[in-house]
Amino acid sequence: MLKPQKVTGKIYWLGANDRKKHLFENMWPLPNGVAYSCYLIKDEKTALVDTIESGVSTEFVDKVEELLEGRTLDYLIINHMELDHSGEIKAIIQRYPNVKIVGNSKTFKVVEAYWGVTENLKQVEDGEELSLGYHHLKFVMTPWVHWPETMMTYDVTEQVLFSGDAFGSFGTLDGGVFDDEIEFAYYEEEMRRYFSNIVGKYANMVQKAFKKLDGVPVKAVCPVHGPVWRSNPEVVLGLYDRWSKMEAENGVVIIYASMYGNTEQIADHIARKIAEQGIKKIRIHDVSKTHISTLINEIWRYKGVILGSCAYNSEMFPLMENLTRELEHMGVKGRELGLFGSFSWNGGGVKNLKKFHESIGWNLVAEPVDIYGIPTADKYAQCDELALAMAEKLK
Ligand SMILES: Cc1cc2nc3c(=O)[nH]c(=O)nc-3n(C[C@H](O)[C@H](O)[C@H](O)COP(=O)(O)O)c2cc1C
Ligand SMILES: [Fe+2]
Ligand SMILES: [Fe+2]
Repeated sequence: MLKPQKVTGKIYWLGANDRKKHLFENMWPLPNGVAYSCYLIKDEKTALVDTIESGVSTEFVDKVEELLEGRTLDYLIINHMELDHSGEIKAIIQRYPNVKIVGNSKTFKVVEAYWGVTENLKQVEDGEELSLGYHHLKFVMTPWVHWPETMMTYDVTEQVLFSGDAFGSFGTLDGGVFDDEIEFAYYEEEMRRYFSNIVGKYANMVQKAFKKLDGVPVKAVCPVHGPVWRSNPEVVLGLYDRWSKMEAENGVVIIYASMYGNTEQIADHIARKIAEQGIKKIRIHDVSKTHISTLINEIWRYKGVILGSCAYNSEMFPLMENLTRELEHMGVKGRELGLFGSFSWNGGGVKNLKKFHESIGWNLVAEPVDIYGIPTADKYAQCDELALAMAEKLK
C-alpha cells in the first residue's frame, strides 16, 4: 500500500500499485502497471468507498485500521463490483463485522455471488443521500460505466465525485497521486488507452452519466485507477466527454496485415501520399505486431482509419478480422475509412473488409484498392486517390 493522502475535508485516498501484472483483465497490456484506489471518509460516521483487488497488498485492511485510529468502520460503499475493486470486501467484513454494506438493487446479487455476503446490507436508490456528519453523500446510478450495477457517489459538502472506473487511467502512481503532482502528457495516453479498451464499449452510458451530472459542481474527481483530480478536474471531465462522444483528432492511423510485405508496401505508399498533403499525424501499425489495445487506442484518437489486409484462405488475415470484430463490438462511430489489400488467387482480404465497412457504417473515403501481386507503380494510381481523399477529410 502507498502512503494514504488527504484529498479534502475528511476524505483520504488509499491506494496500491501493481507493477507485476502483465495483462489487465488478462487481456490488456500493462507496460506501465496499474494502480487501484479507494477512499476513506473519517467523519462522525466512517465510510470506505470501494476496496482494491485482492492479492495486490497483504496490508490493505491493516492500513484501513491504521487510518481509522481505533475507530470502527460504519459503511462500506460499493460503487462497482468488478473484482479489481471488490477484492477486499470479505477481509473488511471480517475486521469490521458490523459494517453496513451500501449498494444498489443490482449490487447485492453480485456481492453474494462473489463474496457470500447477505447481511448488513443498506440498499440505496438513485439520488438518495446519506449523511456522515460533515459530509453528505448522494448516490448516482450510472449503470454500465462499466458494469450493470455501477454507481457513483457524490459528496455534496465538498463537491467530490467518487467516480469508480470512469475518469480512470492505466499506469501506476509513481510518486505523484494528484493531478497537480504528475506529468499530464504521460497519463493522457494511458488514460485514453484505458478509456478505449475498458469503458469505450459503454461510451453512450458515459454520456448518460454526464447528462445526469450536468450542472453538478465538481471540485474533485476521485476515480479508482490512476491520478486523483483535485486541482483541475475539468481536464479529465473534458477528455472523457470528448472520447465518449467519439470525437477524434485530425490524423490517420493505417493498420495493415501482411505476410510477405506487399500489403505493407501499399501502407507506406498511402502514408507518404497523405504526408505530401501536409497531414502530420500519421501512424502505421502492423496488426501482427502491435497489440490490439494500442490499435484501439489509436482508432479512438484519430478520425482517419485505413485498414489493409492481404487475402488469407478466402478471408482477411485472422488478426485483422479480430480487430474489425472488436471494433464492431465496441460500436466505434464517426470515422473516415479507407481500405486496401493484396491477393494472388481470387482475393479475400478487401472483400471481407468491405463487409466490415457495411456493418460499421463509417464513411468510405474512396473505392477500396485490392492489388494483384506486387504493387508496381502502375497499380498505385488508385492508392493515390484513396490517400488524397483521406487527406481532404483531415484538413
Ligand atoms: C496462407 C496463405 C493464404 C492465402 N490465401 C489467399 C486467398 O484466399 N486468396 C487470394 O487471393 N490470395 C491468397 N493468398 C495469397 C496472398 O494473399 C498474396 O500473396 C498477397 O499478395 C500477400 O500479401 P503480403 O505480401 O502483404 O503478405 C494466400 C497466401 C498465403 C500464404
Ligand atoms: Fe471495472
Ligand atoms: Fe476497475
